[in-house]
Amino acid sequence: MYISPHANNYVQNAIMELKVFADYTSLSETIARDIISLVQQKPDAVLCLATGDTPKLTYSILTARAAKEKIDFSACKFIGLDEWMGIPSFLEGSCSQFLHQYIFKPLRISPAHIHLFNGLVTDAKQECEQMDAFINAGGGIDLMIAGVGINGHIGFNEPGVALDNYSHVIDLDASTIESGYTYFTQPVNLSQGITLGMQHVMASKSLIAMANGQKKSQIIKAAIEEEPGNHLPVTVLRSHPGCKMMVDAEAAALINKAGIS
Ligand code: GLP
Repeated sequence: MYISPHANNYVQNAIMELKVFADYTSLSETIARDIISLVQQKPDAVLCLATGDTPKLTYSILTARAAKEKIDFSACKFIGLDEWMGIPSFLEGSCSQFLHQYIFKPLRISPAHIHLFNGLVTDAKQECEQMDAFINAGGGIDLMIAGVGINGHIGFNEPGVALDNYSHVIDLDASTIESGYTYFTQPVNLSQGITLGMQHVMASKSLIAMANGQKKSQIIKAAIEEEPGNHLPVTVLRSHPGCKMMVDAEAAALINKAGIS
């Protein structure tokens, strides 16, 4: 078992490292610091950043520190993890609008360095092929930040997803649709998503899967303790050698610590 000097750790039968933080703020500060460290070591890093509520504080801390310490993201490339099908990119609640608001605008990223899924696309196959080609041309993803969905999804890789997929369109789970509606300020219809596949997730050179709060405690317990498989895509991350699962104490509260050495 890998023991981290930075946080309490306990995870069984895994290559992945689990880090538990006292609270959401210390979790977010550490992840922001990790992203900055990577960019300082590799200024032209390829970054894939999740949307959703979980990484919001990380991104606020990251962009504030980048401005204060003049950290240069101008050579980085940014890839969208997923998008809601049928939703225009400018609409508040879309993954694209989120990334522009929280990351691209504050860091002043050139549009030439951004490649996101277009949820309005008519030829989804071509959209997926273009995304896969963009990732390959950039030499692969250096760091993926993924929020753990309440149902164990990573991006929009929902329970039951084919693990050998690259970019694809997928029918969304009822729970994903329900939480999805909370991101939008006007009425929308959500039924499908377009997402990087589990092959991209597992091929990313490093990956931080993050979760916070009591509402994620059941899924984080399952992520660590259940038999790995596509019934819960998050469980598959345990065999990712570059993966750190970083959670706050509330999200880790149900993990069975007995018998862990
Ligand atoms: C959403 C997003 C994902 C995100 C996840 C968790 O559906 N499309 O990219 O990581 O689900 O969301 P949250 O952090 O709000 O729980």
